[in-house]
Amino acid sequence: MPMLAHIGDHLIVESPTTGATRRDGEIVGVHHHDGTPPYDVRWSDSGRVSLVFPGPDAHIQTEARASAWPLSDAEVAALVRDASAAPSMHNAQPWRFRYFRGKALFHVTADLARTLPHSDEDLRALHLGCGAALMNLRVAAAHTGRPPTTRLLPDPDEPTLLAAVSLTGPPGDEEDLSALYPAVHTRHTSRAPFAETEIPEPVRTTLREAAGAEGVSLSFASGWHLQTVLDLTLEAEARNLTDSGSAEDLTHWARLSEQTPRSAAEGVPPYAFGPRRRGGKAPVRDFAGGKPIPGRESADFESSPQLALLATPGDTPKDWLRTGQAMERVLLTATLEGLSSSFITQALEWPDLRWPLRDPMAGAGHVHMVLRLGYGPPGPRTPRRPTRHTLDIQP
Ligand SMILES: Cc1cc2nc3c(=O)[nH]c(=O)nc-3n(C[C@H](O)[C@H](O)[C@H](O)COP(=O)(O)O)c2cc1C
Repeated sequence: MPMLAHIGDHLIVESPTTGATRRDGEIVGVHHHDGTPPYDVRWSDSGRVSLVFPGPDAHIQTEARASAWPLSDAEVAALVRDASAAPSMHNAQPWRFRYFRGKALFHVTADLARTLPHSDEDLRALHLGCGAALMNLRVAAAHTGRPPTTRLLPDPDEPTLLAAVSLTGPPGDEEDLSALYPAVHTRHTSRAPFAETEIPEPVRTTLREAAGAEGVSLSFASGWHLQTVLDLTLEAEARNLTDSGSAEDLTHWARLSEQTPRSAAEGVPPYAFGPRRRGGKAPVRDFAGGKPIPGRESADFESSPQLALLATPGDTPKDWLRTGQAMERVLLTATLEGLSSSFITQALEWPDLRWPLRDPMAGAGHVHMVLRLGYGPPGPRTPRRPTRHTLDIQP
């Protein structure tokens, strides 16, 4: 029987000679998906972490993990806070979570009271946001040593149920996700100018792999394709200026002042708008809708924006959920790589502008998201609804 361990288990090394001390330590890293050695062990006597290839005098004590079950309500709420740090269009936070304590199972559902009726008629952006929250939940669960097993459940008979995440599964590929955890609360949308510095090819490859791990293709637009994406975005921005529906969604969620229909825990606050664009080519949505905001500065944006498109062959709610997860996996990876990011979805909101966004040379199917990536100031943290409004715990 090979030695198997989870993060959180204890490694006990019995003393081989009389009088020598027995050592024990917490396993804080497992190097193989199947739980076999080596392990990173934090020794209880020294507090130091070392890489250990356990010998025949060592055994695993799993009581720590067993006693960690069930999750306390506070731990469940912490996982939901991590999930809710995800991006969502206009910060509408269109998600809810139900936790079934007895089964250690989360249901992620869509909150249809938080849709954007004009800018997101088919609910694609809603699914992208919920997919991003689902990715954060997977990362957070892996971080606590409970590798998640996820099933996507878009079901025409129950349209609000999007996914089930079980926390009782064996260690698997998902343990890798815990490395992304430090970025969950440091990733923010940055609507500031980025440097012209090119993202190095190895970093681009890492980002492509992050999307690929979720079954989604990520491609950086260049040459005529980049120009097409910029032109289509400009066209969408021009249409939005005179489109009462899109303006209505913006007014509903952009918190231009304290006198807003939304609570302080949702929507985009003025401090996150970024400067007004004076020059440069990077398209950044102006949440002020052209209205003056006291103290808001103007700035030149980059003239060679670095835009990455996320696409899948299909265009179903399941593809959108997959892309939402891939988008967040890319953004968390980018954050750890020192990149800042924002979103450019104006052209995606007009069906006739969305189709020509794709790069026919790359053979990519349906584009679901355009990300702007680069080196620049990090964005500010924006508010989230408290878990008492988003989480329901069942026996
Ligand atoms: C599907 C989707 C579409 C978005 N579209 C835009 C956009 O066009 N322009 C923009 O500046 N931000 C866009 N965002 C970013 C949200 O405004 C942002 O995630 C939200 O305000 C929360 O802020 P945070 O990302 O800093 O946590 C989008 C996010 C998602 C998930």
